[in-house]
Amino acid sequence: MPDIPFTAPAPPLFTKITEAPGNCTRSNKKGRLVVARYWTVGALLLFFVPAFAFLTFEIFLQASGLRKETASGSHASLRVSHGQHTGHTSLTAVEEIDYPHFPSASHRSATLENATTPVIVSVMTPQQFVSGFNGSIPGCEWQGQSLGCHYVVPRNDPRLHMRSDAVFYHGPNLCLEYHNNGTRVVKSTRRQLAVLMTMESAAYYPCFDDPVFMGPFDLEISYRREAQLPISYLRKDHVEGWRHDALVPFEERSDSPVYVQSNCMPQVKRDNIVRNLMKFPDLNIRSFGRCLNTEGLVNGTKEDKVDIYRRHKICIVMENSIATDYVTEKLYDAFVAGCVPLYYGAPNIEDLLPDPDSIIDYRVLGSTAAVRKEILRVMGNKEVWESKVAWRKKRLGQLSPAFQAQVLALAQPSVQCQLCSLLADNRAGNMTLVQQFHDSWEYRSDEEKRLESRQQIVSSFFGYH
Ligand SMILES: *[C@@H]1O[C@H](CO)[C@@H](O)[C@H](O)[C@H]1NC(C)=O
Ligand SMILES: *[C@@H]1O[C@H](CO)[C@@H](O)[C@H](O)[C@H]1NC(C)=O
Ligand SMILES: *[C@@H]1O[C@H](CO)[C@@H](O)[C@H](O)[C@H]1NC(C)=O
Ligand SMILES: *[C@@H]1O[C@H](CO)[C@@H](O)[C@H](O)[C@H]1NC(C)=O
Ligand SMILES: *[C@@H]1O[C@H](CO)[C@@H](O)[C@H](O)[C@H]1NC(C)=O
Repeated sequence: MPDIPFTAPAPPLFTKITEAPGNCTRSNKKGRLVVARYWTVGALLLFFVPAFAFLTFEIFLQASGLRKETASGSHASLRVSHGQHTGHTSLTAVEEIDYPHFPSASHRSATLENATTPVIVSVMTPQQFVSGFNGSIPGCEWQGQSLGCHYVVPRNDPRLHMRSDAVFYHGPNLCLEYHNNGTRVVKSTRRQLAVLMTMESAAYYPCFDDPVFMGPFDLEISYRREAQLPISYLRKDHVEGWRHDALVPFEERSDSPVYVQSNCMPQVKRDNIVRNLMKFPDLNIRSFGRCLNTEGLVNGTKEDKVDIYRRHKICIVMENSIATDYVTEKLYDAFVAGCVPLYYGAPNIEDLLPDPDSIIDYRVLGSTAAVRKEILRVMGNKEVWESKVAWRKKRLGQLSPAFQAQVLALAQPSVQCQLCSLLADNRAGNMTLVQQFHDSWEYRSDEEKRLESRQQIVSSFFGYH
């Protein structure tokens, strides 16, 4: 199993959703019933006609762009600085970008009365796997207006479930059930969209690359950068850590590369790799975790991993599986500690680093001998080592664009709010992202079909089937 059970950033507070009172009128007398019906129809008309007119007007305003965007301050200033619209070369413009100020969580509570019609999301996965995706999420906004955002459990709230905008699945759970007994996505109404969320890699859960599994969904929230709502293992405290913590100097760090790992049976045979490196006595690798422990600790150390990293020049960081874009907090922990990572993981890691020189890339070096040589070079030379941690002192705009995007994304509202806004977009007729999801999976299915048919041609050519 993967090392990190997924827990979403948990917003506090559960506000009870207050239902609009129903318009049931019970009476034994027929006359009163008829009168009651007229009243009901009248009341409905009184309510819906202005509501419909208002909505139409709103849609008109939005569509015609007459309403001024009231983008909330900090985001607006982040967006403008990309330099594409200005005449400047993008480099100068980009260098002006600095780390955002992360606003503290808003405690404004979401109320139903003056919000845009609230968005409701049905959580189809048992609560323990998706903590934080329950109840009312406070402080969400859509187009500058406060937006009600509610996550409900269908079994507890069948009526709200029937009104919900989306069904929300924790990908790994559904994937397991899909394999065990063919369980698939279930929408209860035509207007519901199906949302898949995963922070576990497609290498562990091949469903996420399977068009048959992915086909019924409409949106993806995941570590994959192509997701409609990409999220990463990078946290605000990581960013604050490397920006503000004093770097323990080269001289005060141990030469020994350090390994801290307690999941010893992952898909990637990282223990084998480390065991091979341990055969070089001049590297003198130390392991503090349960895997390949060299420090005589039965269950590994209780000391904080980042504190251990701070005492070493180089740390061995290997993901549990190899999948595009799959970079976990292990790498960011090393960055916080200012320890140079010997990294093995995402095949596209060079796109996701703050700086191409910020790691020792196991995959690029190719052989254990080459890795040994590079480790000795970095740990033996202060200037080389310092050049690998130099990015910590740079401005955000000087770091790689994909890394900048990840840092800037931390200033966005919670993923729960982002999903609600996205669903509000969809409800208002903006289906851009849903369309994007469908297009990408349609493309992949076609690609898959093409490969299959080519496979058939190849097999028939060679006479085996
Ligand atoms: C609701 O509307 C009132 C009046 O327009 C405003 O003062 C209040 O802040 C709004 N509440 C929320 C939660 O947006
Ligand atoms: C929602 O989740 C929080 C923590 O994850 C928990 O304390 C709370 O009881 C949950 N609320 C409901 C209604 O399940
Ligand atoms: C499929 O299996 C899961 C547990 O593995 C169970 O929760 C679910 O109810 C099953 N579904 C069906 C249709 O049998
Ligand atoms: C190691 O872990 C096991 C099981 O988790 C526990 O029973 C044992 O007491 C631990 N030993 C030490 C030295 O902490
Ligand atoms: C529709 O949504 C996309 C993606 O969120 C956004 O970039 C675009 O500006 C939206 N279009 C309109 C007309 O609001």
